[in-house]
Amino acid sequence: MTEGTADDQVEFLRFSSPAISEAEIEEVVDTLRSGWLVTGPKVQRFQDEFAAYKGAEHVVAVNSCTAALHLSLITAGIGPGDEVITTPLTFAATVNTIIHAGATPVLADVDLKSMNIDPDAVAGKITPRTRAIIPVHFAGRPCEMGALVRLAKEHGLVIIEDCAHAVETEYQGRKAGTIGDYGCFSFHATKNLITGEGGMVVAKRLEDAEKIKVLSLHGLSTEAWKRYSESGASHYDVIAPGYKYNMMDIQAALGVHQLRLIERNWDRRQTIWNRYNEALADLPVTLPDDPLSHDRHAYHLYTVQIDTASAGISRDSFVEAMTGEGIGVSIHFRSIPQFTYYRETYGWQAEDYPNADRIGHQTVSLPISPSLTGDDIDRVIGATRRLISS
Ligand SMILES: Cc1ncc(COP(=O)(O)O)c(C=O)c1O
Repeated sequence: MTEGTADDQVEFLRFSSPAISEAEIEEVVDTLRSGWLVTGPKVQRFQDEFAAYKGAEHVVAVNSCTAALHLSLITAGIGPGDEVITTPLTFAATVNTIIHAGATPVLADVDLKSMNIDPDAVAGKITPRTRAIIPVHFAGRPCEMGALVRLAKEHGLVIIEDCAHAVETEYQGRKAGTIGDYGCFSFHATKNLITGEGGMVVAKRLEDAEKIKVLSLHGLSTEAWKRYSESGASHYDVIAPGYKYNMMDIQAALGVHQLRLIERNWDRRQTIWNRYNEALADLPVTLPDDPLSHDRHAYHLYTVQIDTASAGISRDSFVEAMTGEGIGVSIHFRSIPQFTYYRETYGWQAEDYPNADRIGHQTVSLPISPSLTGDDIDRVIGATRRLISS
């Protein structure tokens, strides 16, 4: 959706305008009127409905995917002295949560085409200290979970799936987040299912879900949130030094209705994805690889790789020019070793992860929100073609 700027001369097309319907707005208002704002009945409903959507038994709503990753690592008993392997092509949160747990992050390069962690690279990074793998289903395309699960079994490793982009993703008919030991979802305002900020953990084992629930609310004994309900203020116990990671009913109010729209929005994003594929096919850039026929892509990001030599424009100049055209684009992601903190702390060199490094320098994401109109899509295509061809 385009929106008017101050002088209403130029319309800026935001990279990721959230698609919010009247139903979400009414449900949030209902929550505000109900007087129950924090974790309560709507969080419970959202959890139940999300679990049904994923075909999962044990889910816990939290306030971000970052919280979900952190709690999964802690619940898996991962801490100082342990190594956790993840991808260099991810958002900082994936790596930061490994650090928050006290463990050491280890990077394994991605495959150039799928942009997902390469299981052979993972195998090369396993040491006696490795405890877990965090694959990220980048852009919503499933990782090679078969190979990763085999490695995990062989070496006794935990798998924590980073499903921030992957609500609708399926790998060979299995839903992302239900294949590993834990699946961590993001409902941040730019994601496929939106609660403003928000997240969910899908846990394979009941005892893990119970532990995550306790840790997400200060370590208070189970159902402690009910201490303000009509059932009355009973004593609670503190059984762990937990965190403040719980989801609010205001967020869940958005989530329950967003979940109802998830397949409709997925259809819309698939249509936009196919339009871009057709309209940009002849340009000297690399378009995202098609999903494999037995998998389901969540179409969260539409990434274009711009190689300056063949495209005649650098990625960064393209980003600047698109912004000048009033079109918001984004970068997912500069590779993790391209950032100062990780280079200085872990001595990582970007060139040691050549595929992620190349993608990190060349990739740009075009808008793919379901709220884009036909005219918006034509604008994106027109500007991209003009800038790449000229
Ligand atoms: C791959 C990946 N993992 C984790 C996160 C963190 O999600 P949240 O903002 O919900 O904490 C993001 C956010 O963009 C992400 O892209």
